[in-house]
Amino acid sequence: MPRITAATLVERKRAGDKIAMLTAYDYPSAQLMDACGVDVILVGDSCAMVMMGEENTLNIGMDAMVHHCRMVSRATKNALVIGDLPYMSYHVSPEEAVRNAGRLVMEGGAQAVKLEGPASKFGPTIEALLRASIPVMGHLGLTPQSINTLGGFKVQGRGEAAAEQLVREAKALQALGCCGLVLECIPAYLGAEVTRALDIPTIGIGAGPDCDGQVLVMHDMLGMGMYTKFSKVYADVKTVMADAFTDYIHEVKAGAFPSVEHSFK
Ligand code: KIV
Repeated sequence: MPRITAATLVERKRAGDKIAMLTAYDYPSAQLMDACGVDVILVGDSCAMVMMGEENTLNIGMDAMVHHCRMVSRATKNALVIGDLPYMSYHVSPEEAVRNAGRLVMEGGAQAVKLEGPASKFGPTIEALLRASIPVMGHLGLTPQSINTLGGFKVQGRGEAAAEQLVREAKALQALGCCGLVLECIPAYLGAEVTRALDIPTIGIGAGPDCDGQVLVMHDMLGMGMYTKFSKVYADVKTVMADAFTDYIHEVKAGAFPSVEHSFK
């Protein structure tokens, strides 16, 4: 099966095929989800929270993102790997953004990058990335890198004016040439409206069932991360791991591990 590309995503939307996207930050998880048939793997800056224990996504730098991207891209054969541009890696100038996105592609092995925010702020940056042949996925609604100005992790796009503005911003990102758009934490009806208004696919996280695709943070869907209204726990991996750790500790303390079976003659 050929690898999914940024261009394939638009074909998926045209064909009415839903897109399944997950975050991953390490080799074995990415290898497993790729083998299971996930379409897109996002090496998200959520890595700061779920892997590094940070309070928000603001404190992860380019070196860490490249490091995690590399693990994920080495593990995948079919999925499109998107590297998240972390906070301050694209805010200062389009030139810096190209250099940093280039690192995610060259060193990290990503095939596209994602950045948060509207065309009014990042239009020239997105154009510069596309000139450097780096596909860009947009991200609107709740944009966690703006947590300090948004005032918390809150649902966005509520009310007529905010909803209309979000539809305008989505169209502007499409006009710039984004290959897709993450919509985070917006009312379901607005997720549907933006999806209808665009030719590029929308990928929802807390944006209702009518988006062209969905994304979840891997640790959340495995019961090892945050419990949010919009995430679903598909497996209680936390309990499975805790049981294994507890059994091991008991067996070591009781002298039951290693047994003859696990010892050299
Ligand atoms: O960093 C991330 O995991 C994300 C998703 C929530 C879309 O941006």
